[in-house]
Amino acid sequence: MVGEADLGVEYRPLILDPGDPDDERALVGLRSTPHIEINDLRGLLAAEFGRLNDPPETAEGPADDRWVYYPWRRSVLVLPGPRTFRAIRLDRNRNKLTRAEQDRLRTLTVGVVGQSVGHAIAYTLAQEGACGALRLADFDELELSNLNRVPATLFDIGVNKAIVTARRIAELDPYLTVEVRGGGLDPDTVDDFVDGLGIVVEECDSLDIKLLVRESARRRKLPLIMETSDRGLLDVERFDLEPGRQPFHGLLGDIAATQLRGLSTRDKAPYVVGLLGARDLSARMAGSLVEVGETLNSWPQLGGDVVLGAASVATAVRRIGLGRPLRSGRTRLDIEQALDALADPDLDLDEPAADTETGTAPTAPLDLILDCAQRAPSGGNIQPWSLHTTEQEIRITLDPQYTTAMDTGYRGSAVAVGAALYNARVAAAAHDRLGPHEFIESPDAPLTAALRLGTGTDPELAADYPYALARETNRRIGHGGRIPEPVLSGLAAAAGTENAQLRAATSPAALRAMAEVLADSDQVRYLTPQLHREMFAEMRWPGDDLSDGIDTRSLELAPDERAAMQIARRADVMAQLHSWSAGSALGDYARDRVGSSSAVIAVTFRREPGVQGGGLAGYARAGAAVGRVWLQAQRSGLAVQPMSPVFLFSQTRTELDALSPAYADRLSTLQSRFLEILEVPEQESVALVLRLSYAAAASVRSMRRPVPGGELRG
Ligand SMILES: Cc1cc2nc3c(=O)[nH]c(=O)nc-3n(C[C@H](O)[C@H](O)[C@H](O)COP(=O)(O)O)c2cc1C
Repeated sequence: MVGEADLGVEYRPLILDPGDPDDERALVGLRSTPHIEINDLRGLLAAEFGRLNDPPETAEGPADDRWVYYPWRRSVLVLPGPRTFRAIRLDRNRNKLTRAEQDRLRTLTVGVVGQSVGHAIAYTLAQEGACGALRLADFDELELSNLNRVPATLFDIGVNKAIVTARRIAELDPYLTVEVRGGGLDPDTVDDFVDGLGIVVEECDSLDIKLLVRESARRRKLPLIMETSDRGLLDVERFDLEPGRQPFHGLLGDIAATQLRGLSTRDKAPYVVGLLGARDLSARMAGSLVEVGETLNSWPQLGGDVVLGAASVATAVRRIGLGRPLRSGRTRLDIEQALDALADPDLDLDEPAADTETGTAPTAPLDLILDCAQRAPSGGNIQPWSLHTTEQEIRITLDPQYTTAMDTGYRGSAVAVGAALYNARVAAAAHDRLGPHEFIESPDAPLTAALRLGTGTDPELAADYPYALARETNRRIGHGGRIPEPVLSGLAAAAGTENAQLRAATSPAALRAMAEVLADSDQVRYLTPQLHREMFAEMRWPGDDLSDGIDTRSLELAPDERAAMQIARRADVMAQLHSWSAGSALGDYARDRVGSSSAVIAVTFRREPGVQGGGLAGYARAGAAVGRVWLQAQRSGLAVQPMSPVFLFSQTRTELDALSPAYADRLSTLQSRFLEILEVPEQESVALVLRLSYAAAASVRSMRRPVPGGELRG
């Protein structure tokens, strides 16, 4: 048996290249041999390769096809070359293992000593492509009583266990290098076995070989992993990182292999108990150990435990192979314990949140004006202002504590303050308390909007009052449809009344281009840690206080979008996508919404000469125009959703760098594209972008913090 293994015919398939004259002769011989079956898989595999998303460049053609002869099966398979073959076989590893990671693991050679648990481990490593070569050792032959846990078959009985494993792996992947040491290991052969390995997996029964393998691994500074199929016990000994570490974590003290050789079951007992820990063994295993030599032939192992062991060893091998942290020590993956802990899963997101709009509606004019100001829109509904009143004046002061990275230089907050002032003016006009207003920038406060309370009115402003109270962000998917020209010019006129301009994308081509820009920008927002953190800090989930932030129900998520959002919420997943340069689906929410819209408009304003990007007062004045345009749009039956690209309030490259260091270049390109699509002239800045569509009313109304009461009135 050993001799045959060394010849290679017993476990290694013959890989024949018809382009090679010797191989061609061997093939002709095989073809003329009776009872040799030939199965050409090339057609099926080519079709499968054709179905791969993002297939790799293999640089292989028909000349790389191989005829693979399996002597023990008396069969030939015709396969594409190794790169094509592996690309298909390991495709579904992605991206638990990316292609780059698979390539890195292919440089790894793993040795597996002992082929009961070792069979499952070696096979799992081969399945996963977690190594590029395997070296297997076992001296024993397979028996029927091994088949409760060794995933072999009746056809393998009487065959060396290492050969059984090697054959099975060859039938999975003939291109994977597998070496067999069918004689098992002893003091003379152990070093030869361990030489050249990257990781040693030790799964044999003899205590002395266990120790010899560890000593050899330690001398060569190789990591060693062992799984013991009881309560998922996994041991990791990083001799590569700690060459002075004692074998078995020091559990057996300073013992020599010779002391462990040829022990009777009784003499072995103290060492086995010392290794496994009397207290930690499962009761079944501990009881069975008592019975070994009496009513039991050997200690028991179950097929499921062995499969679990293979999974945990493969995970540890991947960690080491990919240079991820894995320290020495012992752990357990105890399924029985996990089953005892069965519980209902957390219910996420799907529960409707309770509405919290309570309290009595105000009636006094001043309260009504404040209430209307507070109902103004703001990025993330953060309401970045504080309201102060006297009998003569309302002050809306920009409060820097609410700012975020996207709110560069408080510009987005200034837009919100401007919109709040517009609402205050509308309510004041409706209640005959309208007076003049102004925006003040000062060293103490970046921006304050002041409205004098007089006795005047303005019928146009007053007519906006019911619309200001009913205004909403509507994030529903639209039905498409063109916006009539008079409606668009009505919106432009509303902007003009507040000294702002309107720039619009309405053609299908412009909307498609805008959808891509906004989708790309959203992707950057998800993939940039600070922007991601701030976005989700604004979200309010079931059970949260809804007096500020965005109630997730108002996102109008379809079930698939809700599922995607649960994933997108996770910073670790975003970091993963960033590392793969992936995640274009993160833009789908914006892409689908803009794609369903009838227009995307920008409210812009002319920068004051000498003021970079317009001062905050410029943004606030344009914010008032945003308020006016929004109400005009709703009056015309349109649904309105601001869509803020992350670069909206950035004016310089330095600001883009601060916003997203990793994606500043991309943002710069997107910003140019965005301004180009909307044809925004050089001297104008954008205050806000709104998508307009035809859709049913929003499903929930956003809430606000309580309006300050009498205590704030001076
Ligand atoms: C400066 C600014 C930026 C905004 N950006 C977005 C945005 O990118 N996406 C969005 O869905 N809503 C955006 N909004 C809308 C706010 O989220 C919304 O006004 C706030 O949640 C209150 O809800 P309401 O408008 O229904 O009252 C923005 C609003 C402002 C004033």
